[in-house]
Amino acid sequence: MFALEGRKILLTGATGGIGQVVVEYLVKRGAIVVGSGTTSNNDVLQEMEIIYGGKFKGIQFDLGASSSKIDAFLKSAEEKIGGTFDTLIYNAGITSDKLALRMTDTDWTDVITVNLTAAFLCCKAVLPSMMKNRFGRIIVTSSIVGFTGNIGQANYTTSKAGMIGLMKTLALEVASRNITVNAVAPGFINTRMTEKIPENAKQEFLKRIPLGKFGEPADVASAIIFLASNEAHYITGSTLHVNGGLYM
Ligand SMILES: NC(=O)c1ccc[n+]([C@@H]2O[C@H](COP(=O)([O-])OP(=O)(O)OC[C@H]3O[C@@H](n4cnc5c(N)ncnc54)[C@H](O)[C@@H]3O)[C@@H](O)[C@H]2O)c1
Repeated sequence: MFALEGRKILLTGATGGIGQVVVEYLVKRGAIVVGSGTTSNNDVLQEMEIIYGGKFKGIQFDLGASSSKIDAFLKSAEEKIGGTFDTLIYNAGITSDKLALRMTDTDWTDVITVNLTAAFLCCKAVLPSMMKNRFGRIIVTSSIVGFTGNIGQANYTTSKAGMIGLMKTLALEVASRNITVNAVAPGFINTRMTEKIPENAKQEFLKRIPLGKFGEPADVASAIIFLASNEAHYITGSTLHVNGGLYM
């Protein structure tokens, strides 16, 4: 079950807390992965290339860049595996939290650009070859707060809610070509991103999580693997929530 033998997968946000476990799970199931991260993550990408041998190739790219550069990014990613991708996992994401009244144009634009605009552009870039091959899997990483809202995150929640609209529209547009488009929506997961939450706020969130604990990157990675697998072929336009019951 959930084998990904021979699959060619482009994963953004590969160097992050969730992305690194996604890479581990993809490679274990037989996929070949090109994973991207920002320039500050060069060492991590190099280490991952050593760990996974020929099954993982790293690529540095700032997803805040323009659309013409995203096409070039895809081209160099394709060169690394000598072919086109059958699966895109758009998992890169950033936060820049402030109450809406204090949020600057830059806070807004930076988050929307990396989390949403670049997600759209990456989907647009991989779709022509998927359509030609009549097979594809696209999975985007949204967030629980895209469904609930969250104080201090007008930019982030908008980007993550926008991803759901993007995912559903693409799912409708490409279903006839045997391409599925789905989202995972993590709740609170133990990574660098949630390390920033003050301890007292963490304790308050914990009280509200029915399963009584934060999730681990492996919980999100498992959901992504499922949606990428052949077993999920009849699922499209869906969101898999991974949140311990915090949002139902
Ligand atoms: N950790 C959580 O609790 C949580 C909850 C809900 C959703 N998410 C989402 O899950 C995804 C992964 O989160 P994580 O916790 O692993 O975060 P992380 O901060 O550990 O990793 C973020 C990844 O995104 C990449 N990235 C950031 N800015 C980039 C840019 N400009 N260009 C290219 N790459 C860039 C980083 O290199 C890194 O690989 C994100 O989309 C995040 O919004 C996380």
